Formats: sequence, C-alpha cells, structure tokens
Amino acid sequence: MKKNIAVIGGDGIGVEITVEARKVLNKIAAKFNYEFNYTDVLMGGIAIDETGVPLPDETVKVCKNSDAVLLGAVGGPKWDTGPGHLRPEAGLLGIRAALGLFANLRPVKLFDVLADACVLKNPGKIDMVIVRELIGGAYFGKRETYTDDSGARAAYDTMLYRDWEIERIAKAAFKLALKRSGNVYSVDKANVLDSSRLWREVVHATHTSNPEYAKITLSDMLVDNAAMQLVRDPSQFDVIVTENLFGDILSDEASVLTGSLGMLPSASVSESGVGLYEPCHGSAPDIAGQNKANPLAMILSAAMMLRLSFDMDAEAAAIEAAVEQVLAKGFRTGDIYRGLEGTRVVGCSEMGDLVVDNLG
Ligand code: IPM
Ligand code: MG
Repeated sequence: MKKNIAVIGGDGIGVEITVEARKVLNKIAAKFNYEFNYTDVLMGGIAIDETGVPLPDETVKVCKNSDAVLLGAVGGPKWDTGPGHLRPEAGLLGIRAALGLFANLRPVKLFDVLADACVLKNPGKIDMVIVRELIGGAYFGKRETYTDDSGARAAYDTMLYRDWEIERIAKAAFKLALKRSGNVYSVDKANVLDSSRLWREVVHATHTSNPEYAKITLSDMLVDNAAMQLVRDPSQFDVIVTENLFGDILSDEASVLTGSLGMLPSASVSESGVGLYEPCHGSAPDIAGQNKANPLAMILSAAMMLRLSFDMDAEAAAIEAAVEQVLAKGFRTGDIYRGLEGTRVVGCSEMGDLVVDNLG
C-alpha cells in the first residue's frame, strides 16, 4: 500500500520532531511493507521568510492532494510583531480552514509509567479525549481593532456558531463515545453566552436525534467548572466536546495531567477528506535546535494518522506500545524527567531511535 504524506515541519522544534516521526513511520513501512512518500511543504514563520506569506497556495494544494498531513509546529519570537494575517499562526488557522478540519481530537492519557510526572499526587486513571471544534468560534469570527468615538482604542472578536457547525462536532463526539465508555461532557458557558446556549440546545437535540446515541450519557458542564474539575478529579471524564477557544485552553490544562504538553498528540479531521496530525504543543523556540524536544506527541500523532486516515490499527497500536516500552525502560526527555531512580534523560533524536528500536 502506498500513501502520500504532506509534511509541514514548520518552525522551532517542529522540524526536529517531524524528523523523528518519519523515522518511526519508515520503520513501520519497512516492517509491514508499505510505501510512505513524503512531500515537505512550507508553513508558518519559515514560509513568511521564504515566500512572504504564512500559508503559500502550493502548501494548500499539496496538502489537499495528499492522503494525510503531518504538522510539527509553527511560530516564534521573530515573527511575533507582524500584523495578524502575516503571523505564523495565521498559516495554521488557514490550513485548518482550507482542509475543513472541524474536529480536533486530543487524547489525554496518562501512561502508568509516567504517573510520577503528573502534576497530581494521586491522579487515578486518566484517559479522555477532548473533542475541540476547530474552525469556528472566536478564532474565525468577525474582528476589528479601531478607535472609537471617544478616542479610545478598542478591539473585538466574535464568537459565532451556526447550528450545523455544532451538530457536526456533537456527532463526531458521540461517534467517538460509542467506541469508548459512552460518557460525554459538553462544555460551554451557557449561563452567560448566547453562542453557548445555542451550543447546548443543538448538542442535546443531536443526542436525541439518533436512537444509537441513547447509550450515551450526555452531561453539560460550564467551562469554569470544567477547568476546576479537570484538576480535581480528571478520572470522571471520557469524552469532552467543546468549542474552539474553550478546547484550546482546556487541552493545555489537561496536558499537564499526562506529565507534559510534550506527550499530547492530536488529530484534526474533516467530513470526508484529508486529516491533519499535529502535537498540541507549540514550536518551543527556547529549546529549538538543541536536541532537547520531546518527539513523543509528534510520534503519537503519526500513530493517530495510521489509525484514522489509513485504517492501520495494528500499526498504530504497535507505535503506542513502543512508546510505552521506552518510557517503562526509564528513558525520558527533559520535560518528563523527574530525577527518579532508574530513569535517565535522552535527547530528541535518541528518543526517536528508541521508539524505532522498540518496534521490533
Ligand atoms: C493549538 C495552538 C494553536 C491554537 C495556536 C498556535 C494558534 O495553541 O493548536 O492549541 O490556538 O489553536
Ligand atoms: Mg493551544
């Protein structure tokens, strides 16, 4: 089987970690007799430097024509002062919109062997997926910065949701929940926001619209409470579905439950087309190019690509098992190292090699 994969290394550690993911995918290809073809494309700061825009048309074209997209990270201080549309992040939002990637799945799983790296003293079992709406809400609503009649500088962003946008993300969450424990929390701010009141109404209507969903327990939770419950008792969550900005914030919060943001993979999927796989962390410019980054979120994102875009369940599971073995043997990148006996720090490329070696 042959698959074409577009690779966006991007900026900072994005470049290093995609190299490690590729190593792992190449091992899978060799072992299972697949052919993975990679096409490197530009996005983010490097694309601004080389082409003047954060998301060149060529990148969108290559991604659309690929079977899947692997993305490292974008952004860095060098490009922080540009206008909104000329920032690396605009490239990321642009590719999400161009590919129609409305559902972002962020699995938050604490590996048993990393319990010591979790911020909680007695974490219990942590295994949830945050389903984040990805191409709506304040990220994409009307916005403006202006000077008002009194001479004050003013700015606004609009959080807008249409019923069909809520319905399709709710369905994505329910579909996932049917394969898991069947417990869904829909997170909103319905005590204040109109967009959240519509969100709640549509999520419930979607829940009752399909008899199959009757197996699912649906509960609402306000986002401020959810932020608190995530650290108070994360074991109560299985699937969380929420709008774009809330999902962005809650997933960073949830990531430290797994030891580090460097452990959190993600998959962004569209209704029918190509999926994009990226770690939840950013480009970490402070450690870029020093072989210190944790490539595991990127490698686990590649595993999600195999499972969700290529139907390669066994191969994805093999990567996840290899990651767990490497951790069980005590290898840690700096972000998940807590100085415990039997553990030692390795660099980004060593971590990639270790996963490859443990794939057998
Ligand atoms: C994420 C990131 C992005 C987001 C940034 C880099 C624009 O934080 O993927 O969570 O806010 O969506
Ligand atoms: Mg984020």
